Amino acid sequence: MDKIRIGLVGCGGMGTRHLYGLQELAQTPFNNVELCAVCDIHRENAELAATEAEQLLGTCPEIFTDLEEMVQRVPDLTAVDVVTDPSVHHQVVCQALDLGMHVMVEKPMAITVQACHKMIEAAERNNRKLSVAENYRRDASARLVHHLLKTETIGVPYMALFHSLSGNNTIFITPWRHLKDKGGPIIDMGVHFTDLIRYQLGDIEEVYGDIRLIEPVRKKQESIGDNYTFYQKRFKAMASEVPATAEDNSIAMFKMENGATVNWIVGLGGHGNYGGQMILGTKGVLKSFGTRGGRAVMQLAEQAEMGHQEILTVVDGFSLEPLAEHFFPDRIATDNVDWKIIALEYYELAEAILNDRQIEVNGVEGMKDVAAVYAIFESAKAGRTVKMQEVENCQVYDYQKEIDEILEIN
Ligand SMILES: NC(=O)c1ccc[n+]([C@@H]2O[C@H](COP(=O)([O-])OP(=O)(O)OC[C@H]3O[C@@H](n4cnc5c(N)ncnc54)[C@H](O)[C@@H]3O)[C@@H](O)[C@H]2O)c1
Repeated sequence: MDKIRIGLVGCGGMGTRHLYGLQELAQTPFNNVELCAVCDIHRENAELAATEAEQLLGTCPEIFTDLEEMVQRVPDLTAVDVVTDPSVHHQVVCQALDLGMHVMVEKPMAITVQACHKMIEAAERNNRKLSVAENYRRDASARLVHHLLKTETIGVPYMALFHSLSGNNTIFITPWRHLKDKGGPIIDMGVHFTDLIRYQLGDIEEVYGDIRLIEPVRKKQESIGDNYTFYQKRFKAMASEVPATAEDNSIAMFKMENGATVNWIVGLGGHGNYGGQMILGTKGVLKSFGTRGGRAVMQLAEQAEMGHQEILTVVDGFSLEPLAEHFFPDRIATDNVDWKIIALEYYELAEAILNDRQIEVNGVEGMKDVAAVYAIFESAKAGRTVKMQEVENCQVYDYQKEIDEILEIN
C-alpha cells in the first residue's frame, strides 16, 4: 500500500499519544503512514519521542529542532503533524504549508479566529490539505448519534443541553492551559464540544454568552493518573502553583441555523461538578452527543431508555467507515479508543493526500469550532447576542484582539 511520509512537530503529551495512534494504524492492513522524523524546539522532548517511536513502530525517526531543516533534510517528506501548544499552531502550520507540506494540526485549530483564517489561506495558496485532528466525533457513539439524527429517529430536534462542569483549582493538564494567549481551558475543551454540537445539529446562527475567571491561582495536583513517560516528566517539572489569566467558566445559549436552541454550561474551575447532555426531538430524546469512548443513549416517546448496544439492534443502515469498522467491529468503543481514533485521523489525512479525498474537519470546519467558543467570549465582552457570521468574519473581535496583539497576529 502507498504511504505518506510524515514528520511529527511538537513532541509533548499529545505528541506522545499520536505515536501510539501510529502504532495502532501500523498494526492494521490499512497502514498508509510512515513516521520519518520528529521535531521539537526542546531537543530532549524530540529525543524522548524518537525513542518511544522506535519501541512502538520498530524504526527510529530522525530528530530535529527546526521545522525547515526537517523538511529540507528528510527525503520525500509529504506531511507534518502539528501537536504544539495552540499559541504557535498558525506559525508552524503556515510555515509547513509554505514549505509544500500537507498538514494535520491538533485542536484547537488556532489561538484566534484570525489565526485560523491565515492557515486556511496558506493551505489554499499552496494547494495543500489541511486537517484539524478533532477526535471526539470519530467515536462510534458520535457516529451513531449522528445517524439517529440524520434518519430523524427522534424526530426533529428542537432543544438541547450540553453541560460539563468540573469544579476545582488544580492545574488543568499544563500551566499554559490557564493563559489567555496560549488557549485557556474553555477553548481547550470547548472546541471538542462545539465540534460535537455542530456535527450533530448543524451550524450555529447566534450566541449569547457569559464567562468568568473563578480560580486566578492554580495549584499542582499531588499526582496524575497518566503513565506515559512524557506526562510524568512534564508533571515533575511543573511549578507548585501558576497564575491563571484565562476564564474558566462559561454559560451560553446557541441558536442553531435549523431553529433548535442549545444551552451550554462548561467550566473547569470553581465549585460545581456536574455533567449532562441531551438532544430533545419531536419523537424522543438522545441523552448524549457522543464522545470519545462514549455510549449513545436514546429514549423514544413512551418507551424505555435504550443503551448503545440495544439501539444497534433496532437501527437500520448504520455502519462505520472501513478502518473504524476494523477497530470497532461491534460499533462500540473498545480498549485504546484514544489511540484508535488518532489512527483514524492519520488514515484520513493520508487517504486525502494519496487519493485526493475530502477532509472531514478541514480548515473551515476547524475555524468554525474555534469561532463558536470565542462567540461566547465575544458576546460576554460586547454585552449582547452575536451572530456567528460576525465572529467568523472577525467583525466582533474585542476579546481576541488582545491575544492577536500579544502574539503579533495580523
Ligand atoms: N485531541 C485531544 O484529545 C487532545 C488532548 C491533549 C492535547 N491536545 C492538543 O494537542 C496540542 C498539544 O498539547 P500537549 O498537551 O501535548 O502540550 P505540551 O505542552 O505537552 O506539548 C507541546 C510540545 O510542543 C513543543 N513546541 C512548542 N512550540 C513548538 C514549535 N514552534 N516547534 C516545535 N515544537 C514546539 C513543546 O516543546 C512541547 O514539547 C494542543 O493543541 C492541545 O490542545 C489534544
